[in-house]
Amino acid sequence: MREISAEKIDKNVFEAIGKQWMLVGAENDGKVNAMTASWGGLGIMWNKNVAFVFIRPQRFTKKLIDKSEYLSLSFFDENYKSMLAYMGKASGANEDKIQKAGLSVIKDKAPVFEEASMTFVCKKLYNQYLDASSFLDKNLINQYYPANDFHEMYIVEIEKILIKD
Ligand SMILES: Cc1cc2nc3c(=O)[nH]c(=O)nc-3n(C[C@H](O)[C@H](O)[C@H](O)COP(=O)(O)O)c2cc1C
Repeated sequence: MREISAEKIDKNVFEAIGKQWMLVGAENDGKVNAMTASWGGLGIMWNKNVAFVFIRPQRFTKKLIDKSEYLSLSFFDENYKSMLAYMGKASGANEDKIQKAGLSVIKDKAPVFEEASMTFVCKKLYNQYLDASSFLDKNLINQYYPANDFHEMYIVEIEKILIKD
């Protein structure tokens, strides 16, 4: 694995996040967990390279994210798609997903998975629940939040980018 700069990322963000999906990983007190995410983005904020992720309150991963200063975003080759489907269905509240998925964890400021083709180690900068009163298109509330479980948005600084050759 080697470190690259953000300018050297050769993936299309719409394809990488929206179509191929990513894992949001976090660790607290030795407990590692991760969940699949297909909503989010990459960009610039406060003159930093950042990512945006959106996590619903019921996710077990959120508990770890909220107790940690860092989280990781991991991207995988197409042959890991069934692993990503599993990580997006099972909950770390009930089982050891990392072990069941056969992922090998490398310790960093947030979990890095050996199998990932690209990993962002990210420092949390900002978090805030989406607020019903701020939706300009109220249809989105009916469509995505009938259970009132609004996502929490995290803006995280991409501190390190690792790729596997
Ligand atoms: C393709 C896909 C994309 C997902 N994207 C998100 C997302 O962006 N935000 C979110 O909160 N949950 C998302 N989920 C749901 C979580 O991955 C799922 O609830 C997972 O089981 C949570 O695991 P945990 O309880 O171990 O954290 C997605 C699931 C799939 C299959």
